[in-house]
Amino acid sequence: MIVIGSDHGGLTLKTALTSYMKRRGLEVTDAGTYDDTSVDYPDFAQKVAEYVIAGDAEIGVLVCGTGIGMSIAANKISGIRAALVTDLFMAQMAKKHNNANVLVLGGRVLNEQNACDLLAAWLDATFEGGRHQIRLDKITALEKKY
Ligand code: RB5
Repeated sequence: MIVIGSDHGGLTLKTALTSYMKRRGLEVTDAGTYDDTSVDYPDFAQKVAEYVIAGDAEIGVLVCGTGIGMSIAANKISGIRAALVTDLFMAQMAKKHNNANVLVLGGRVLNEQNACDLLAAWLDATFEGGRHQIRLDKITALEKKY
């Protein structure tokens, strides 16, 4: 299962990404927001992160205006590796090297086709492990230390 969330700045793109994932046959949970009322992006970063940390979703997608606020907020939560990406190389590497468990996109930065292409690149890539796992273990150690 994939969980997706946004603030008002990412709402339109969230709707498009949700439709895309459903067309791909993926099971998607929409954690909100559900209308264009102004909301605070950390609340939705927290909701999506909690699904992932609890194991209720394998991975998550977050969208705000730029993606910046969502990525900052989500990465405060232990175990979350949220990657804000803006091109295909970054989207692939976010999985291959960083094993990002949350993809973050900017609703005011990307058009819908572009964003779906980035999501597809991340979904289709595979974590390479090896030396990259050693680096992720160091990130986990940082989470424990600070
Ligand atoms: C909301 O206006 C906007 O600040 C938010 O969507 C996001 O871009 C924050 O990083």
